Amino acid sequence: MSCREKRTRHGAAILTLFACFLLSSAGQAQEAANTFRQSCMSCHTIGGGKLVGPDLKGVEERRDREWLLGFIVNPSSVLASGDAYALKLKDEAGGVIMPTVVGMTRERAEAILDLIAGESQLEESQFAGLDIGDEPFSEADIERGRQIFRGDVRLANGGPPCLSCHTVEGLGGLGGGRLGPDLTKVYERLQGRKNLASWLLAPATQTMQPVYAKASITNEEILPLVAYLEDEAQIGTADTTTAQVIFLILGLAGAVLGFVAADSVWRGRLRAVRRPLVRGER
Ligand code: HEC
Ligand code: HEC
Repeated sequence: MSCREKRTRHGAAILTLFACFLLSSAGQAQEAANTFRQSCMSCHTIGGGKLVGPDLKGVEERRDREWLLGFIVNPSSVLASGDAYALKLKDEAGGVIMPTVVGMTRERAEAILDLIAGESQLEESQFAGLDIGDEPFSEADIERGRQIFRGDVRLANGGPPCLSCHTVEGLGGLGGGRLGPDLTKVYERLQGRKNLASWLLAPATQTMQPVYAKASITNEEILPLVAYLEDEAQIGTADTTTAQVIFLILGLAGAVLGFVAADSVWRGRLRAVRRPLVRGER
């Protein structure tokens, strides 16, 4: 083999290696972004302010990487060790403990911290969360939210309507599904607009994540949904007894209607038989 050939082979090998490296690190970055969107964004923004958890912009200026890795991989064990900084964060979060994210490993946490560092440099990160302002919502927003919730208006990306798994007090009639919790007071439970909006941008729970990961709820849908749930929280009483009572009444009414109907049909038959008989006698 000539020296020249060797050099080109060498060059090709290095190029291939380099390309592989670029591709795999691009893949890793993409994976980290997906993980962040699916598993972190419901509680954290990068540069969009505090949600349930702290804003993670520039988090490595507050804590060193080693500590952060340990915390992301297993938050409760750091808290249980009595770590003063973690306990202070927990106080600030109103006592909420960060959950251990399923499938989190040291390597994944590294990639996420790289992602956070990169996003922290940007003017506006894609993970800044959704700030839908403080102005009062209009009646039209609330009504549209109700329609989206009930499925009268379809979700743009094809997700199922909220009603199939959730109920709220003001829905009336039989209410919605019971797989998910009653959402009458969820606006208060999640502590307001910004948290609820960001939560819906990337629902991170076991049941909703797989359903909405590919059929995400759009910003144009989140605003009216938040308007509707804010309105519900103000007027609702968060119990479903009314729905149950209505169910009972409808059941009773149905039974009564049934009797009446049977009775009239039966009477009609009696007459239908008797009359011709009587007429015939005459
Ligand atoms: C259910 C809400 C929730 C989710 C989901 C969540 N966190 Fe947290 N996170 C918190 C809370 C709350 C704290 C404050 C400490 C505490 O109370 O446990 C926190 C603290 C942190 C901190 C330390 C912040 C600081 O200021 O030093 C980091 C880093 C962090 N989270 C990263 C993540 C990453 C990465 C993910 C996703 C893989 C994630 N969190 C998912 C709620 C959450
Ligand atoms: C396939 C069923 C399903 C659908 C559809 C669904 N959810 Fe959920 N949702 C759940 C379940 C179950 C939970 C409880 C957490 C879990 O187990 O995932 C939940 C939790 C929530 C929570 C947090 C409740 C809390 O108290 O923390 C909110 C907010 C929420 N859903 C809003 C919505 C909205 C808005 C829609 C419609 C766009 C919707 N969900 C559609 C099943 C569903």
